[in-house]
Amino acid sequence: EKGNYRHYMQKEIFEQPIVLAQTLQSYLRPYDGEISLPDNRLELSTINRVTIVACGTSFYAGMVAKYWIERFARVPVDIDVASEFRYRDPILVQGELSLFISQSGETADTLAALRHAKECGQVIAAVINVPTSTMAREADLLLPTHAGPEIGVASTKAFTCQLAVLAAFAARLARAKGMLSAEEEAEIVEHLQEAPEAMQQALDHDDDIASMAHLVSPARDVLYLGRGPDYPLALEGALKLKEISYIHAEGYAAGEMKHGPIALIDDQVPVICLAPSGPYFDKTVSNMQEVAARGGKIILISDSEGIDEAGDDAIATIEMPKAHPLIQPIVYAVPVQLLAYHVAVAKGTDVDQPRNLAKSVTVE
Ligand code: M6R
Repeated sequence: EKGNYRHYMQKEIFEQPIVLAQTLQSYLRPYDGEISLPDNRLELSTINRVTIVACGTSFYAGMVAKYWIERFARVPVDIDVASEFRYRDPILVQGELSLFISQSGETADTLAALRHAKECGQVIAAVINVPTSTMAREADLLLPTHAGPEIGVASTKAFTCQLAVLAAFAARLARAKGMLSAEEEAEIVEHLQEAPEAMQQALDHDDDIASMAHLVSPARDVLYLGRGPDYPLALEGALKLKEISYIHAEGYAAGEMKHGPIALIDDQVPVICLAPSGPYFDKTVSNMQEVAARGGKIILISDSEGIDEAGDDAIATIEMPKAHPLIQPIVYAVPVQLLAYHVAVAKGTDVDQPRNLAKSVTVE
């Protein structure tokens, strides 16, 4: 079943352009330039607040969605990890939307949070990869990802499909709220359609990334930095590395570095910077230079423009295609996945079945 691949995780990383296109197909009507959710039972125009709840990688997809929903639809978003949600007795206004994100649709904390929200009179939307799962059944609005079965414990293709669905949802909500014109919607459809190809271009850097594994594999600690929607990607990169290579890694909002973590930096610490050119670029680069000045070893993930401008501060660079801000997190997921994968292979860990972890966490 792994075909020519050495691990399921590797196969699933490489499947992404196909399953992403598959997922987008059920959300986009390219000829009409429209986004249409596969389930249209809900009147989205009345939604004034969204609460997002998930665990792990799915939570990071939710963090990206918060940027998108607030930016495009101007609807405020609260987000919690599922294990914290119920216990803080969240203020849930009757009739508003709670959005749950889960690959398996069975994660115990997320399911308990879903039921709690339902009891509080929330409308339940769920982004789920397993259509027969409990959460898929219990949701009022099911937003499926069509990533196919994900076997590797480290979530990869489910994550990028979640992002695609969440981007479509954010745009659809924005349209329903009157915050997006038909032309803008058509543009978003076009950009989303470019995502699988952009992702393929990112995958083409596999060999380069494999050759960088030795820069990270001896490290004890690794930092990932990003701003805006790349901040959750930094968290996701660190989680991937931790879970499969057992190297301690942290993701930080780049601007937070000087509030503490910069004390960790010396020439033994690789720092992965996610910095596409654009509004956040200059600020992230100055954070990067602070790291470089303390001997930190920077791996810069950016586009050609960003690498031309700031590549000299890095010991290695990974060039991503230039992408619209809406699909950029989907594309930047690829290098962080591949880097974690190759470092784990270099360390000889059990990539698909890392120690102490289960694919579906069914205890709270
Ligand atoms: O099935 P779910 O999406 O609800 O799972 C949530 C987390 O357990 C999961 O994303 C976990 O963090 C992954 N192993 C990360 O790669």
